[in-house]
Amino acid sequence: MILDRKVKISASIMCADWMNLGKDIRILEQANVDYIHYDIMDGFFCPDYCLGTNIINVIRQNTTIPSDYHLMVEEPSRILDNFVPKEGDILSIHYEACRNLHRDIIKIKRMGFKVGVYLNPATPASVIEYIIEEIDVVSVMTVNPGYSGQKLVPQTLDKVVMLNDWRRREKFNFEISIDGNVNSANVPNMVRAGADILVGGSSGLFIKGQSPMESISKLRGYIKDGLNNANKTGN
Ligand code: DX5
Ligand code: ZN
Repeated sequence: MILDRKVKISASIMCADWMNLGKDIRILEQANVDYIHYDIMDGFFCPDYCLGTNIINVIRQNTTIPSDYHLMVEEPSRILDNFVPKEGDILSIHYEACRNLHRDIIKIKRMGFKVGVYLNPATPASVIEYIIEEIDVVSVMTVNPGYSGQKLVPQTLDKVVMLNDWRRREKFNFEISIDGNVNSANVPNMVRAGADILVGGSSGLFIKGQSPMESISKLRGYIKDGLNNANKTGN
């Protein structure tokens, strides 16, 4: 039973109201979200473009919320030097996008980031077996990368359960993050499966017609439900 478990919220800024971005960022600060999640897409690894460092830096210079960078980019080693870490920032790359994943992980750590590795829905957790001790955050994509507003691929929660069991068995310290369709119906199951960080996007945090403040408070309620349930079942 894990009574002091905290599940963090990372707000996916690409899903914010861009006509009122400053306002949304102030709300995220007031609500004490743990991270701002930046989706960086190269139009090649995934079929869309999103968030270059010029835009990201404007936001970073105007908030103290730590950054959670999600590079959906082919061969991310080409662009790592564009990112400058601040205390507590996470920089994540995709297993599927790297020719030399271990080398890239070591570089990101040396730069001063917490390093994350993303796994697409079709990628098994076993691919990171030999480098798991180098990774700070294992991120499970619960939708295919590239677009907000997609439906959960349900088998991906089995992967979270597997990672959580593995971590417990081997006493590893990595955190588990979940990205995609983090909504009212899925959050309790995600928390019960073992998530430590939930990326709130269009389905759970930036919802049309609802203030992000209200969404975050609701998300925290669903997290609580998941934690209570996990405690009851000993997860
Ligand atoms: C998906 C992105 C997510 C996205 C998830 O490719 O990585 O960060 O914003 O948000 P939802 O699924 O809730 O729209
Ligand atoms: Zn993302």
